[in-house]
Amino acid sequence: MRRRWMAAVAVSVASLLTLTACGGDAKESGGGEAAHKKVEVFSWWTGPGEADGLKAMREIFAKQNPDFEFFDAAVAGGSGDQARALLSSKLQANQPPDTFQGHAGAELQGYIEGGKLESLNFLYDELKLKDAFPQQLIDQISVQGQIYSVPVNIHRSNVLWYNPSVLKEAGVDGAPATIDEFVADLEKVKKTGKIPLSIGSQWTVVHLLESVLLGSLGTDAYNQLWAPNADWSSAEVTKALENFKAILSYAGTPQEDWQPAAKQVADGEAAFNIMGDWAYGYFHNPPEGGLGKESHKDFDWAASPGTDGTFMWLSDSFTLPKGAPNRDGAIAWLKVAASKEGQDAFNPLKGSIPARTDADKSLYQDYLSWSLEEWSKDKLAGSIQHGVVANDAWRSAINDAVGLFQQSQDGAKLQEALVSAAKNNNQ
Ligand code: GAL
Repeated sequence: MRRRWMAAVAVSVASLLTLTACGGDAKESGGGEAAHKKVEVFSWWTGPGEADGLKAMREIFAKQNPDFEFFDAAVAGGSGDQARALLSSKLQANQPPDTFQGHAGAELQGYIEGGKLESLNFLYDELKLKDAFPQQLIDQISVQGQIYSVPVNIHRSNVLWYNPSVLKEAGVDGAPATIDEFVADLEKVKKTGKIPLSIGSQWTVVHLLESVLLGSLGTDAYNQLWAPNADWSSAEVTKALENFKAILSYAGTPQEDWQPAAKQVADGEAAFNIMGDWAYGYFHNPPEGGLGKESHKDFDWAASPGTDGTFMWLSDSFTLPKGAPNRDGAIAWLKVAASKEGQDAFNPLKGSIPARTDADKSLYQDYLSWSLEEWSKDKLAGSIQHGVVANDAWRSAINDAVGLFQQSQDGAKLQEALVSAAKNNNQ
């Protein structure tokens, strides 16, 4: 496993380390006396909708920790593909930030097995966190009884966002429940001249793929794909990839990232977008950070087609890297991220629900109350793109396969590439 993790980070360290994080030169935090007080927090929450949640948690941190200065080392780019590449290089070069955001599940397990993280059992004991988080989540961030991160939220990946007026204009009566209905509705929208399905950069297409795999295969078969020696060459996967191809044929011009693609729906240029519920924060937050749109009118949502009753989840989780220059500062940040106050400030703006089970439910309204309810009763499936089921090397092989498919449109080649990605990364 260690070897696999190393392979995933075999990028040009020198070139990546010259990338500048959004808060300035990340190296500053290792500098002189005053600089020691800085706490370098690494994430990719810079964009509209995403930065609002981080800001709310940062304000609490500032109030509780006058001796520390929050240093925003966020690297722009939805889903953190850019950020993760830089982070891997920094960890390889033993220049970790004080704390970084990763995804619970296989992605974090990679860092753990690579020996890059400190165990946080001491913090879990001190703050009684084992009682605060669901056991299933703790299992995803543990190895051999040691817990390695603080989950701040639960996001849902399998959400179909849509514009009710565009659907009406196309004669589509509400959100499609199945993949076949979805394809029929996309065709109806196409006839109106509007964009049937908006997409963003390549990772958003992988995000679409995970919902289509889940909706086509069903939850149990989807979950089986991540077991050792799973069969990616089956006729069921072939059919799922045919569905993916059919759906993708209705996509508009790829936008730069997830926000402009989501905005096409909110603006009534596009009918549908399949995206995680960070899109809710973006649609709903007031205009300084979001679009200030009204739910059920300017935008609406449903489980992505064929996935009702299953919550495809992911969780943003903060860590304590070994050798963090400001270890005390990092622990102070983790305490805020772990707290009820921190989570209840962060999540309503981020479009996610709290990882803690004792949060103030009255703060989670509208889409968020739906999400809380679904989380409490749905079956679970893990996200591919957002680190739950596939480690970084596997996820990046899936990304490459999807990128090539976007050029070639060759479904058989896509399946072959997915078969090898599984073979190379999950034996
Ligand atoms: C995910 C992350 C979310 C959100 C999204 C879009 O990977 O877990 O918090 O930031 O990317 O950037």
